[in-house]
Amino acid sequence: MPRHSGASGVALSTLVALAFCTSVSPRAAEKQDAQDFTQIERGRYLTTAADCAACHTMPDQKQPFAGGRPIETPFGVIVAPNITPDRETGIGTWTDDEFDAALRQGKRPDGSRLYPAMPYPAYTKMSREDVQDIRAYLATIAPVHNQVEPNQLPFPFSVRAAMMAWDALYFQEGEFRPDATKSATWNRGAYLVQGPGHCASCHTPKTVLGGDKTEQAFQGGVIQGWFAPDLTNDKATGLGSWSAEDIVAYLGTGHNASTAATGLMAEVVERSTSKMTKADLEAIAAYLKDQPAAGHTATAVQATDPLMVAGGAIYHDVCSACHAIDGTGVPHLIPSLAASPSVHSTDPTTLVRVTLSGARSVATDQEPTAPAMPAFAWQFNDEQIAAVLTYVRNSWGSAAPAVTAHDVETKRVELKTRGEH
Ligand code: HEC
Ligand code: HEC
Ligand code: HEC
Repeated sequence: MPRHSGASGVALSTLVALAFCTSVSPRAAEKQDAQDFTQIERGRYLTTAADCAACHTMPDQKQPFAGGRPIETPFGVIVAPNITPDRETGIGTWTDDEFDAALRQGKRPDGSRLYPAMPYPAYTKMSREDVQDIRAYLATIAPVHNQVEPNQLPFPFSVRAAMMAWDALYFQEGEFRPDATKSATWNRGAYLVQGPGHCASCHTPKTVLGGDKTEQAFQGGVIQGWFAPDLTNDKATGLGSWSAEDIVAYLGTGHNASTAATGLMAEVVERSTSKMTKADLEAIAAYLKDQPAAGHTATAVQATDPLMVAGGAIYHDVCSACHAIDGTGVPHLIPSLAASPSVHSTDPTTLVRVTLSGARSVATDQEPTAPAMPAFAWQFNDEQIAAVLTYVRNSWGSAAPAVTAHDVETKRVELKTRGEH
């Protein structure tokens, strides 16, 4: 749960605290320092859970939170701003209220609106205390002078005022309210998933304007060329056959017995979930295991279909060496294509990408060696990749829509424009 300690009502920034200390007795000052220290530690943890670095730190990790990273949106690229305490190019002169308004209302100090590439639609669920803890931590980061021009969108999206209409359509402001009929663990999980963890920003499908399709919450969405799968308890496409322990292992280490995290989720695990406490991961799992199944249905492509026959041959020749003839892989090392819900997703975006470009899974402190999947773009044409993926999606008792050569061609073109092959 968010903190309840009475002392937390005094949310003083480090700066104010320092000024304050000069006029109080040494003992009171010591107490104040200790309180600031725990606030900063809480803030550091929340900054990690909220993964602020995902967007505000460049991939080379130099100059934390100094911004400059381009964030892909359906309308074009927005560059994440500098949120270090630099007074000219960062947020050093912002008040606590201004910081709170940016995170929980999507408003800038001049009253204009932020683009939802900044996940304020999720952060609005956070408590003011948690947001001020994050601020207290960020105030301890080295200020970096780095001027960023965030808005590089083409007209008409370049018009910030349009975001008022977006907010009216899609933004629901308001702090998380615990559900009294559920356990404290469930509520902690709900808070982390809906608020700081902003899991919906990738896992909930979006409208053409990039708003959440809330009636399909957590049923899977395309994001930056990956598909973030269904997190509901659907047995085929979601987490229905995962235990709570499977979820905890995946979020804590990047893999479990049946699958491994790739791409964007590998980054989320490395930077964020692998650094969360076991209790918090268990809370997330308890909440996710309580989500109703999406109820996706699919008819299996027949084993006699030419696509399945061609795909089966490629699978036996090339893929079975690692993923095994019966698709079960090697527990904890090579994903079970038979059991991985990601393989049976409604949308094959991630599978096509991984098969074309290869993938390396997560390396975490606990498990430093990441197993890798080779790239096959050079070896197979679009029809062959479509065939082998249709085969893995419809074998070993599973059913999922066929992958088409067109799906693969589109992905190849997209990967070229991203500078990957
Ligand atoms: C998914 C990417 C993403 C994540 C995660 C993210 N941000 Fe942002 N943030 C952005 C982008 C992009 C903007 C600029 C939006 C715009 O120009 O309207 C922004 C804007 C901001 C601003 C306004 C700065 C300014 O100068 O206008 C603040 C403050 C901020 N973010 C703080 C945070 C904090 C703190 C966290 C973690 C709790 C966080 N952000 C997480 C992408 C992100
Ligand atoms: C930046 C986008 C992004 C965010 C934020 C994100 N995810 Fe993911 N997630 C993905 C993608 C993409 C995949 C697919 C990775 C793969 O197939 O290896 C994924 C996969 C997963 C899986 C494995 C599902 C499966 O069927 O294999 C779980 C569980 C998961 N995410 C949970 C979460 C939770 C919980 C959060 C919030 C704390 C979260 N994710 C936040 C993008 C994201
Ligand atoms: C050298 C061993 C190896 C070979 C050969 C191999 N793979 Fe993989 N594959 C892996 C590993 C390791 C991963 C996990 C990588 C990751 O998660 O980043 C993986 C991941 C995958 C995934 C993603 C699974 C998930 O749960 O997200 C798919 C789909 C896949 N492989 C399909 C194939 C196909 C199709 C072939 C044959 C054309 C093939 N693989 C050949 C090792 C291999």
